[in-house]
Amino acid sequence: MSEKIIIFDTTLRDGEQSPGASMNMQEKFRLAQQLVKLKVDVIEAGFPVASPGDFECVRNIAEHVRGAQIAALARCNVKDIDRAWEALKAGENPRIHTFLATSDIHLQHKLKMNRDQVLELAVASVRHAAKYTSNVEFSAEDASRSDLDFVCKVFAAVIDAGATTLNFPDTTGYALPDEFGRKIAYLIENIPNIHKAVLSVHCHNDLGLAVANSLAAINHGARQVESTINGLGERAGNTAMEELVMVVRTRADQMLVHTDIVTEHIYPTSRLVSTITGMSVQANKAIVGANAFAHESGIHQDGVLKERTTYEIMNPADVGISTGNIVLGKHSGRHALKDRIAAMGYTLKDDELDRVFARFKEVADVKKEMFDEDLEAILMDEVLRI
Ligand code: KIV
Ligand code: ZN
Repeated sequence: MSEKIIIFDTTLRDGEQSPGASMNMQEKFRLAQQLVKLKVDVIEAGFPVASPGDFECVRNIAEHVRGAQIAALARCNVKDIDRAWEALKAGENPRIHTFLATSDIHLQHKLKMNRDQVLELAVASVRHAAKYTSNVEFSAEDASRSDLDFVCKVFAAVIDAGATTLNFPDTTGYALPDEFGRKIAYLIENIPNIHKAVLSVHCHNDLGLAVANSLAAINHGARQVESTINGLGERAGNTAMEELVMVVRTRADQMLVHTDIVTEHIYPTSRLVSTITGMSVQANKAIVGANAFAHESGIHQDGVLKERTTYEIMNPADVGISTGNIVLGKHSGRHALKDRIAAMGYTLKDDELDRVFARFKEVADVKKEMFDEDLEAILMDEVLRI
């Protein structure tokens, strides 16, 4: 049996940090229920200290949602951690996720602390969180731009203090896949007590590499991936969960790991996130875009109609898309048109189909996409002569 990748969903926390993507309490609750259906392992429900509203959202989800671990974010200070626990405590296996930057850029300009102070604060904070729960995650913010030996030192110390998940974020989306994979391998080789914790990654998409970097990390031993639905998140977003999960499933021959995600719920979840946040998904977005399984050219349509796998590496039904995978337009062929017309309930003689096809091409030349209503009108004219 292949090893499992833990899917940590942060749509409700990092996803909500996407400008314009804020969600109210009912919407967050509805989405959390959908994430349980999707079978994510951990739901990061919010950042309780950020506002009374965020606190209530986390509390409500922790109290009522069952079937996934519920996590809440906290900076490395007592007030944040206490507030996170207050919101989480009614939950099933609740996780406190505390974070502190480790890069010199952040230490010098943001925290105004030296490395010894950061190490000490990280250990004290994890120790404080571990008094509440044995499920503690520590994130080294800006880890990919940090001195790797310092991250090793911090991770080893926080494991001893009680952290059970260690997260290595590419906070600024700066890493390259090979480089990121090598860093994960280095951590595993150089942290003596690493086997006591799960190594996680959290990638941002500033250079469009969040999914590629997460996959490289898996290939070098990371066993938790933090991601969001539709790749929502701060700036250019986070690792798109649907992409990562479908790579792991479609290329199981290469990846040699699995997730527990019920992939048939991917598309409905993507639609729900888009509706709730008002952030539309680009048409050519992998897996969940409107065109992800659409075939416009005649050659492709003909191939797919003869045998789906000629141009489809995934079955749309596996991500919850059940209908309408053929788009009719000016590049469409006679075969696709005949099929659509048959599905609409018409059987045409050859000469009728010739006429309809000729008119179809004329109209399609000036229209982007041909809908059933357009075909109805042509059929009325050319065949039924109404
Ligand atoms: O991008 C980041 O570093 C984060 C941490 C809080 C995990 O979102
Ligand atoms: Zn982030």
